[in-house]
Amino acid sequence: MEILKKLEQIHKDFEGEIEKLSKQADVLNLKANVLGKKGSLSEILKSLKDATPEERKEIGPASNSIKQKIEQAVLAKLQSIELEEINQQLAKNRIDISLRDSLMMDGLKAAGVHPVSAIQREIEDIFISMGFDVLDGPHIEDDFHNFGALNIPETHPARDMQDTFWFKDMKHLLRTHTSTIQVRGMESRKPPFKFVGPGKVFRCERTDATHEMCFHQLEGMMVGENITVGNLIYFMKTLLKEIFKKDMEVRLRPGYFPFVEPGFELDIRWKKPGKGESKHSGWLELLPCGMVHPNVLRAGGIDPEKYNGFAFGLGLDRLVMVKYMIEDIRHLHSGDLRFNSQFSMI
Ligand code: DAH
Repeated sequence: MEILKKLEQIHKDFEGEIEKLSKQADVLNLKANVLGKKGSLSEILKSLKDATPEERKEIGPASNSIKQKIEQAVLAKLQSIELEEINQQLAKNRIDISLRDSLMMDGLKAAGVHPVSAIQREIEDIFISMGFDVLDGPHIEDDFHNFGALNIPETHPARDMQDTFWFKDMKHLLRTHTSTIQVRGMESRKPPFKFVGPGKVFRCERTDATHEMCFHQLEGMMVGENITVGNLIYFMKTLLKEIFKKDMEVRLRPGYFPFVEPGFELDIRWKKPGKGESKHSGWLELLPCGMVHPNVLRAGGIDPEKYNGFAFGLGLDRLVMVKYMIEDIRHLHSGDLRFNSQFSMI
């Protein structure tokens, strides 16, 4: 029974070896050394041809069972190595959730809501209470949604009014205004409807105290039958009253935007608190708006003979600056805790 003994020895050696290994590659190597074509077990089985028929009867099942045991052991070992690796990885990436508390104990305050987000939420709530939906839209847009459908054809000079970040394909862009949401809103619903659409917009502009490359707008649109400028003024005044907690005096001036006709600039009468009258008081341009241009309705699949509506585009950063008397828009993106923490209670 020379062969049987050798087989058992091979199994024993294998068990001793695999115990010591900790890498999957090494385990696979060991397996090949034993079970592979030129492996030790295979080599021994080759000598079977010299054994007697009785011997073969015994050796056959014995070698099979050893082979199976080795295969199972290899599989189990591979799995345990994998598990060990995952555990190590998890241990390395562990998030210390107690860190926040220990930082706070070191004197850092809990974070708050950014003033632009806070005002956005506040305005969304105001409009929801008046029956408006709140819609979202993508930052990356195509020509049609940012310009074409808004009555700004390719050759229109209004395209230059908004310095656009184009993608290399010259087909896609970072939306320059939230008016894109007007188009998406019209595409997704049937009149009558009313919705607002807040979000980030992007312009390739030099930054200064009143300009940022990325800022926030809140678009609004109401479409139905016999909508008038009176409806527009009503909703805008209600909004302003809620935000400033008092009746605001407003005026409409003509304003030009290709997607509205007539178009207006809605100004509020504003007195900078604490600075007396004079130069800080007066009319402040706050809200461009107007009656939706028939071409825009048509591009949105709406019959302008039957329906009309109003639209507006509120600058959220501007509003925050007015409300909290912030003199430089760049503070809003600075991430400076000395600035942000002033709003942490909002
Ligand atoms: N999209 C315009 C801009 O960013 C703002 C605007 C003007 C939006 C008039 C409107 C509107 O909905 O009616 O400059």
